Amino acid sequence: MSLEASARLSSSAFLTACRGERPDHVPVWFMRQAGRSLPEYLKIREGTNMLDSCFQTEMVVEITLQPVRRHQVDAAIFFSDIVVPLKAIGVDLDIVPGTGPVVAEPIRSAAQLDQLRDLESDDVASVLAAVSALTDELGPTPLIGFAGAPFTLASYLVEGGPSKDHRRTKQLMYSDPELWHALLGRMARIAGQFLRLQVEAGASAVQLFDSWAGTLSRADYLTYVQPHSAAVLDSVADLGVPRIHFGVGTGEILGAMSDAGADVVGVDWRVPLDEAVRRLGPDAIVQGNLDPTTLFAPTEVVHARAAEIIAQGAAARGHIFNLGHGVLPATDPDTLTRLVDFVHQQPVPARS
Ligand code: CP3
Repeated sequence: MSLEASARLSSSAFLTACRGERPDHVPVWFMRQAGRSLPEYLKIREGTNMLDSCFQTEMVVEITLQPVRRHQVDAAIFFSDIVVPLKAIGVDLDIVPGTGPVVAEPIRSAAQLDQLRDLESDDVASVLAAVSALTDELGPTPLIGFAGAPFTLASYLVEGGPSKDHRRTKQLMYSDPELWHALLGRMARIAGQFLRLQVEAGASAVQLFDSWAGTLSRADYLTYVQPHSAAVLDSVADLGVPRIHFGVGTGEILGAMSDAGADVVGVDWRVPLDEAVRRLGPDAIVQGNLDPTTLFAPTEVVHARAAEIIAQGAAARGHIFNLGHGVLPATDPDTLTRLVDFVHQQPVPARS
């Protein structure tokens, strides 16, 4: 990348806000912006299995670019999945449409841990080729790499699939702490390796998704999970890219997720951003947090809520506008385009 191009990238609204500096407009992107809400996504994915598509360089590039082209969002999120590095090291799993990741042989014993080897760049060569191609294609628009956090990854491996109560995961956590910490340690290494490889290939920020950490009490999060998420975030600290840490229903553990080493804390819609900043401290940089179901309301309601969130975000040192969780597949893409437009038209508020 030329010097001029990298200067434009670095001064993008998204990276400026991630550093806690004042951007020229409020940056906005959406979790799950690349995916089923877009007809062009459904078309290109026709006939290709989800996990296979994540390893097809050209398809990954195209799907990642689709929402950037359509909505003019301020950042691209890499099209992949949290289970891609596990698949890449040979774990027998699939992503079942309408269900999510399903693991053929759930991991519940020490002997099974051995199959969770380190991730090498060769395992994800086609994935990293997409990252490199994207950084060229995107120019001044930042690419966000991501990984699943140790707890969320482990929950799929232990349960064998999605779970409402995470009963087996917690059973292992409480009954065999040694095996638990060994498993989360393995997950942390793999997640850290996946993030590092993406940044080395050109990603300019990373997000660690601990989607299901909100099922834990603060005490359990601190004992059983936080050290491992901290290890992931620490393992990429030297790369100098912003590290976003996000989970759902994590209002009670926002401080602990920040303390794990996050530069930006993702907040779901349950906690207003000014309250999140009160919990995190005045130096916090936050991302969020429109309830994704709001997008099914009339435009005036969507925009009024968005304005409220921008005002609440003024309590933070930096605010990146996003949803409080991913775009729901039934969302009308035009609603997202209009919302991006609306956010871009709002003045950047003075800090409150
Ligand atoms: O825009 C983007 O964010 C696209 C990249 C992305 C995907 N998955 C693509 C995907 C990202 C960042 C993820 C992360 C992910 N995957 C998380 C953390 C984020 C969150 O939403 O909490 C989790 C928990 C997963 C596991 C997973 N993969 C689930 C729960 C599902 C949905 C299953 C379903 O069909 O309802 C998937 C599949 C998946 N990952 C899809 C996409 C676009 C849908 C696949 C399809 O098109 O059929």
